[in-house]
Amino acid sequence: MTRLVVLVSGNGSNLQAILDACRSGALPAEVAAVISNKSDAYGLERAKLAGLPALALPKRKEIDRHDYDRALAEQVAAFQPDWIVLAGWLRLLSLEFLGRFAGRVVNIHPALPGTFPGLDAIERAFAAWQRGAIDHSGVMIHLVPDEGIDSGPVLAQERVDFLPGDTLESFAQRMHALEHRLYVETLHCLITQVQSCER
Ligand code: GAR
Repeated sequence: MTRLVVLVSGNGSNLQAILDACRSGALPAEVAAVISNKSDAYGLERAKLAGLPALALPKRKEIDRHDYDRALAEQVAAFQPDWIVLAGWLRLLSLEFLGRFAGRVVNIHPALPGTFPGLDAIERAFAAWQRGAIDHSGVMIHLVPDEGIDSGPVLAQERVDFLPGDTLESFAQRMHALEHRLYVETLHCLITQVQSCER
């Protein structure tokens, strides 16, 4: 069975979608562990509720970023994952980490390639729509080859149109619903070795 280690920093709704898909058999994989850089991430509770190893590895100020990433890589490697799935992991990973799992780190970002990299992409897209700068945003899933922020070879992307009367809440709800579906579909595609996951 394909083994996933999922890294989260917060709520973990994407993690939940993955856990549900593994449990139902929709995703032929198992989550071997969930690791968070935030001790209070709700994603860790979701993992515990699912009976899975849930580890907190906060970065203390006195620890160098590269040492932290080496320690994180050790923890992840101990679970022998086939894929490392970033699901709302809000820390930039250095090559100390990525070099150890080359070609096997996947990320989801709530915006289309090249747009709104970094934090609060949904809020920033909504603000851009409100001032008339854009009429759609979207979701992408990509490999993480290097330290670029929310960039790398795109595995899947899907657009989300703004609708008349949209509020931040209604837009965010559509974005998250799409994220949950697209992440599971894309992981399925990766795991079952389909050549291209982009439709
Ligand atoms: C998701 O919207 C994810 O795409 C985003 O964080 C949220 C986590 O939600 N990731 C990024 O912004 C990466 N730059 P979740 O914890 O409920 O899955």
